[in-house]
Amino acid sequence: MASRRLLATNHSPLAKRSTMNKKIAIIGGGNLGTAIAEGLLNSGFTQPEHILITKRNIKTLLPLEQRGVLISDNNVEAVRFADLVILAVKPFQVDDILSKLKAMLNPERHVLVSVITGITISHMLQAVGKKLSVIRAMPNTAIAIQQSMTCLASHEATGEQIAYIEDLFNQLGKVAWIDEKLMDAATVLGACGTAYAMRYIRANIQGGIEIGFDAATASLIAAQTVKGAAELLLQKKTHPEQEIDKVTTPKGCTIAGLNEMEHQGFSSSLIKGIVASYDKIAKDS
Ligand SMILES: NC(=O)c1ccc[n+]([C@@H]2O[C@H](COP(=O)([O-])OP(=O)(O)OC[C@H]3O[C@@H](n4cnc5c(N)ncnc54)[C@H](OP(=O)(O)O)[C@@H]3O)[C@@H](O)[C@H]2O)c1
Repeated sequence: MASRRLLATNHSPLAKRSTMNKKIAIIGGGNLGTAIAEGLLNSGFTQPEHILITKRNIKTLLPLEQRGVLISDNNVEAVRFADLVILAVKPFQVDDILSKLKAMLNPERHVLVSVITGITISHMLQAVGKKLSVIRAMPNTAIAIQQSMTCLASHEATGEQIAYIEDLFNQLGKVAWIDEKLMDAATVLGACGTAYAMRYIRANIQGGIEIGFDAATASLIAAQTVKGAAELLLQKKTHPEQEIDKVTTPKGCTIAGLNEMEHQGFSSSLIKGIVASYDKIAKDS
């Protein structure tokens, strides 16, 4: 099927500030693929007609098409269109898809970016059977609101390609370049980390209800307080303990609560949970 495009020009006004004219194919327009497309549109990084997103059932891509993005169920056509190819399918689909795309992938033109969990750069290079600039990315679900933490690892990418990819993911949150051998650790701390944080917030909500708040108010207070705490660290670049010192009056209620949490194994349980997630990846791979 040929890609379709509406003539409507309801582009973000911010699109005009984009200086990049690279064309981007997103193979796999599911949760992550569409979140990437939406983030790039919302930030104005890319013009809508410079994004082509694919999946087999394109019905769910209609909202993106209405914003001017090209949609298709033809991956070969997408690779022909693009300079940058973002793979956002499930791990078990990658070999089949790359086997059909390898003839089209041109090392002189294409950069392959994969957000697929657990699929190594060497696995992808083997699947395409040629030298190619490949970048592995590990974002998290906050990419849907352009607040992801995305860890990136590169292979054979030029300085210009690296700068472009960093710029792209910076539109979707924050970026850290890491050695590929740390990708499993990045999966745990960055991607599973969202779930750990949610559970921490949920416990705060439960405690908040027990001490008198209704659920909605407790949720707002808990979530905004955690967001503010995180912003303090990100903006002031302080250590958590420096911020804790500001809240803990001698003989006060904060230190009484914190110490009780530690007696109950708070930090230890978090560290053990992180290591258990990491060990699980190692065991299953
Ligand atoms: N979600 C996260 O927070 C997160 C974080 C980090 C990494 N990841 C990784 O990102 C990848 C995607 O995750 P997701 O949550 O977005 O999964 P998802 O929602 O299932 O998206 C995968 C999409 O791929 C499409 N697809 C399947 N076969 C295809 C083909 N041959 N050609 C083109 N598209 C095809 C599917 O749509 P059709 O069935 O219509 O084709 C589906 O919409 C996974 O490998 C995951 O490990 C996800």
